[in-house]
Amino acid sequence: MIKQYLLSPGPTAVPERVLLRMAHPMIHHRTPQFSAVFAETKRMLEQVFQTSNDALMLASSGSGAMEAAVTNLCSPGDTIIYVNGGKFGERWGKIAARHGVRAVEIKVAWGEAVDVAEVKAALEAYPDARGVFLQASETSTTTEHPVREVARLTACMENCVTVVDAITALGVIDMPMDDWGLDVVISGSQKAFMLPPGLAMIALSDKAWKLVETASCPRFYFDLVTERKNQQAGKDTTAWTPAVSLILGLNEVLKMMFEEGLDNLYARHALLARAARAGVQALGMRLVSSAPATSATGAWVPEGVDGAAFVKYLRDTMGVTFAGGQDHLKGKILRIAHLGYYDVFDIVTAISAIEMALDRFGHPVEMGRGVAAAQAVLADRFPAAAR
Ligand SMILES: Cc1ncc(COP(=O)(O)O)c(C=O)c1O
Repeated sequence: MIKQYLLSPGPTAVPERVLLRMAHPMIHHRTPQFSAVFAETKRMLEQVFQTSNDALMLASSGSGAMEAAVTNLCSPGDTIIYVNGGKFGERWGKIAARHGVRAVEIKVAWGEAVDVAEVKAALEAYPDARGVFLQASETSTTTEHPVREVARLTACMENCVTVVDAITALGVIDMPMDDWGLDVVISGSQKAFMLPPGLAMIALSDKAWKLVETASCPRFYFDLVTERKNQQAGKDTTAWTPAVSLILGLNEVLKMMFEEGLDNLYARHALLARAARAGVQALGMRLVSSAPATSATGAWVPEGVDGAAFVKYLRDTMGVTFAGGQDHLKGKILRIAHLGYYDVFDIVTAISAIEMALDRFGHPVEMGRGVAAAQAVLADRFPAAAR
């Protein structure tokens, strides 16, 4: 038997409490019983989005909500600006192209955050742009983009919105949607929401809802106006059959988040991120990102170690699943998740596993060095004991 540890940035580990809630017998979705849970869940979800607008739940993975953002805000022939600093940024361009929306790319080197001056210049060059689309946390490069600063640029533009893929940022960092003027915020269940995949969430500002009125891209399943009508108080259901079990699970997850307290939750994530960075760096592994994300830590696998074989060995021989790199980072990096149901000893396990795997790959490593560096950071999580 090899005990399994899931430390990939989505899907992430699901707490026992949530698994048990989802194991309850199925209920019908057009019933007062479901509507009561749905309404409570939606209210709590809006507190995590930190919005007074509706946070809508869609039965899809996160990419469904990304597509919904494009089709509900744009018409064929419109122009959008998008930040392409990795696999998920690139996706904005692909979605737009499919819908006949012209996508102006701001190319960012993988591992770097977008330069706000470049966004400003693009908005000046394309004043009719319908929106700036970007990631709060670009998971493929474990990088955070400055979404708040970008939102400041579009705030004074009547027909241009900031659309934020916060799939690995919401519930990880404090990003108050309304306060920061983020017009669209998107998330997904299998990340900080500690659920299996299959549920996407999306919220729009008043300004974004106004743009929806004139957007003519074809849409049916992801028609957000229809969804909003159904999901608002009074109806408290979804337009189509919802992911019932995931919504019950989300109800439990949100209760857990509020029991912890959002400030504590953000502080925990920040601490784990700092510890993971300290751990890998102490092992001589360089960080992939110059603006490292709070959700996951990407590190270059040392020269001479085959990154793909390394990740495979960790998973199949040691039972610890990390994510490797995508595209040109394939076989070169390793990504450690710390978003959602993770705590001190998950990071200790992660760093310890990397140390032991490096040793097994014949890479010179001082056993315990990375773990000690992580522990030095993690100790802050616990109060000093009374003596
Ligand atoms: C930042 C980001 N955007 C988009 C996606 C795509 O979401 P999904 O795989 O749920 O469609 C992911 C998934 O890893 C992500 O991390």
